[in-house]
Amino acid sequence: MNLPYAEPYRIKVVEPLTRSTRAQREQWIREASYNLFSLRSDQVFIDLLTDSGTGAMSHYQWSEVMLGDESYAGSLSYYKMKDAINNLLGMPYFLPTHQGRAAENVLFSAMIKQGDLVPGNAHFDTTKGHIEFRRAVAVDCTINEGCSTTLLHPFKGNIDLNKLEKIYKSNPAEKIPFCLITVTCNTNGGQPVSMENIREVAALSKKYGIPVVFDAARFAENAYFIKVREKAYEQHDIRDIVREMFSYGDAATMSSKKDAIVNMGGFIAMRDKALYDQASVYNIMFEGFVTYGGMAGRDMGALAQGLMEGTEFDYLESRIGQVAYLGEKLRELGVPFQEPTGGHAVFVDAKKILPQIPKEEYQAQTLAIELYLEGGVRGVEIGTLMADRDPVTRENRYPAMELLRLAIPRRTYTNNHMDYVAACLGNIHERRDQIRRGYRIVNEKPIMRHFTVELEKLEV
Ligand code: F0G
Repeated sequence: MNLPYAEPYRIKVVEPLTRSTRAQREQWIREASYNLFSLRSDQVFIDLLTDSGTGAMSHYQWSEVMLGDESYAGSLSYYKMKDAINNLLGMPYFLPTHQGRAAENVLFSAMIKQGDLVPGNAHFDTTKGHIEFRRAVAVDCTINEGCSTTLLHPFKGNIDLNKLEKIYKSNPAEKIPFCLITVTCNTNGGQPVSMENIREVAALSKKYGIPVVFDAARFAENAYFIKVREKAYEQHDIRDIVREMFSYGDAATMSSKKDAIVNMGGFIAMRDKALYDQASVYNIMFEGFVTYGGMAGRDMGALAQGLMEGTEFDYLESRIGQVAYLGEKLRELGVPFQEPTGGHAVFVDAKKILPQIPKEEYQAQTLAIELYLEGGVRGVEIGTLMADRDPVTRENRYPAMELLRLAIPRRTYTNNHMDYVAACLGNIHERRDQIRRGYRIVNEKPIMRHFTVELEKLEV
């Protein structure tokens, strides 16, 4: 008999979860104005809101917490982080920041000015927020296949070179501070970018004198996909793939809460001393001195260790295998989702499940609320609420897809939890015709509204 798959770790510390009744959940979600971000965590049974900062650290990482050097300047933990980043990414300069969006804030302060264009692949919402806040425009150049949930393509995060070149041709280089490559592409399903595409984007950008910046939050998961899906790399070590990926870039922003498996932290990696010097000024202003940038020494040590663990093949196989496992279970139940499954999450296709709900009533949010009511599972809407309003016209932007993201924290839940989540969605899928109305906004903020939006349930 072939031996079944088993995780390459065992569990040393456990955290109890709270169950609830449907009646309790109905009350709690009403009190939360139908915004899942407003729930208390003990009102949630299985929390798939995000894979960001929610993973389980290893005992090696916890050891680094004890070894943390809390010196204001020149902390040894900073040097551990510097070594890990140098070795892995091959970029000589780096600045610690307290999380990914802080890295965006600092780097973009140095690079983006009003009226600029930032082409790239499905910019994450905070990334787009930081671009638009500077009165610049994020231009999505993801390949068309990336916007279909059923078309099978191994690298749905790829950038369309024709779309990109059109931008380069029709605008002066001074208006394009950089091209952003997001690895993996969170917004369209944790979809990876191939090495071939990274190489071609870098070559095209070089031709037009445009730097390349990575949004590296899930770079290790991207490297895993390159290894298992791109023939030329099947024999390569994950860390060699990572090094080659970053060799095509000039800088990277990192949310370490993802692939560095820590609860808080981020950084900017840079190739150029002049850019480092410029960004350092903003880092000191917004984050902290250049050798801690908003992080405690202990967190920098755990981060350095997490970067190494996050780039181990066995770990990545187990992590991405669990995401694929949830996908398989949903397929068995006929629940449509973005295929193939991505690195960190399963993206359920709300448009297909709830076609009777008009897009103006937030299909993906409606499905997210149903899932919470069904079994206390919290996912997150990646649809019209998150897409926000056009900064100029203030009209709702309706994205091509309405998705419910089930993001899986690293090394945290078992496959029994995945079975439970799949069963909840299976039940909803069975009674989907009975869901007749969605929600309407009663209160929203002018930017990144989905975090705090308040909704009202529409009656049939
Ligand atoms: N870039 C990507 C691709 C992300 O997914 C995120 C965060 C960020 C940047 C910002 O990083 O949260 O550390 O400030 N994504 C989280 C998520 C919030 O749930 O996907 P941050």
